[in-house]
Amino acid sequence: LPVKVYPDMLTASKTVAQRIATIIKQKTQKGENTILGLATGVTPIAVYNELVRLYREEGLSFKNVVTFNLDEYYPMSPDTLQSYNVFMYKHLFSHVDIDPENVHIPDGALKQDDITAFCLDYEKKITAYGGLDLQILGIGRTGHIGFNEPGSAPNSGTRLVSLDELTRSDAAYDFGGKANVPVKAITMGIGTIFKAREIILMAWNAKKAEIIKKAVEGEISADIPATYLQHSDHVEFVLDTDAASALT
Ligand code: F6R
Repeated sequence: LPVKVYPDMLTASKTVAQRIATIIKQKTQKGENTILGLATGVTPIAVYNELVRLYREEGLSFKNVVTFNLDEYYPMSPDTLQSYNVFMYKHLFSHVDIDPENVHIPDGALKQDDITAFCLDYEKKITAYGGLDLQILGIGRTGHIGFNEPGSAPNSGTRLVSLDELTRSDAAYDFGGKANVPVKAITMGIGTIFKAREIILMAWNAKKAEIIKKAVEGEISADIPATYLQHSDHVEFVLDTDAASALT
């Protein structure tokens, strides 16, 4: 499994932003859209900061970029502070020239009865755009990618899932207490993620060292969904020294 270790998360984040910029420029030159799979959480914030800088200072345009976010809490109204919708506008979309029509984020405000159709449509839209050029990922301490918690099938698609207790504990601070953290989410599946032409999983901080060791060196198992990535020939792990510290 290709693993790149950088001295700090800022340096690592800049190389990931550079990779995204390169893909956008290459595809734009060919007159094609770039289809990006995006993640939320603390991990990609410096990547988004750097993309905003590239837009402001180096003329990187997002006019031909189409995005699909990995996940959203359920239930969750799109204007709630903790929603991944608000997160994405706050850290990226409000600051660049992306067309809001090109932004796709799972809808946490759907009626229960409409979720299955929405999820199928999400998959269809990604396919209709020609598939994801690049999917960026963080990793949860349960080993989740997107919100594919332990037990997720390798061929799973976009669907409603239950969040693991550890995941809800880790989100408790943001919600002012674990009791306020939604118990469910809508997430792209492992199968959805795998179809991306390129996958970059990022992790910083010693808190991630143990799960990174399991993801990279552990036995492939549904118990740690990130281990499925060992099957992929187009994935790269981008780590800081702290997240890489348990690797042998
Ligand atoms: C977020 C997502 C999650 C996070 C993971 C790590 O869209 O899909 O898998 O990437 O929970 O979160 P942070 O980066 O906050 O440690």
